[in-house]
Amino acid sequence: MNKKTQQVMFSSKTSEWGTPQKLYDMLDSIYGFTLDPCATAENSKCKEYFTKEEDGLNKTWKGHTVFMNPPYGRDIKKWIKKAHEESKSRGTTVVCLIPSRTDTKYWHDYCMKAEKIYFVKGRLKFGDATNSAPFPSAIVVFRRGSWLRLFNPKAITLCQN
Ligand SMILES: C[S@@+](CC[C@H](N)C(=O)[O-])C[C@H]1O[C@@H](n2cnc3c(N)ncnc32)[C@H](O)[C@@H]1O
Repeated sequence: MNKKTQQVMFSSKTSEWGTPQKLYDMLDSIYGFTLDPCATAENSKCKEYFTKEEDGLNKTWKGHTVFMNPPYGRDIKKWIKKAHEESKSRGTTVVCLIPSRTDTKYWHDYCMKAEKIYFVKGRLKFGDATNSAPFPSAIVVFRRGSWLRLFNPKAITLCQN
């Protein structure tokens, strides 16, 4: 990876970490997603989606099975808080593809309350990238009334191969 690519990848300058289709298809076959709240018309994963202009953070996700791959900048904590809060509504599940930053405050405040966390083995290749991401990924599933306990066996490893 050259220095320029590295600078962009490690910074918050790109919010376009497109979900690998194979990973999405696998999760979709389990959950059956109905809403992508972080999208453009070009990269949306679901028929129903919200764009930056519409602002998915300020819409309700109630009643949906949501696939959320949020912008990975500073605001990621707002998206994870939103995912956790929306999942308190009856019939709402939010599955989040996020960097596995287990040392952050938002991880402890919200992700540790998830129903399930899949830790991805290896690094994902996002969008059209030829290189793997410089960070590990996790899939965090928020569903009403569920709490992940520390060392819960439902924290599982997911291998993309
Ligand atoms: C990591 S990409 C995910 C793209 C696609 N949904 C996927 O999973 O491959 C995050 C997307 O969120 C969009 N986005 C940024 N801010 C947003 C906002 N406030 N509301 C909705 N979408 C937003 C970006 O334009 C970008 O396309």
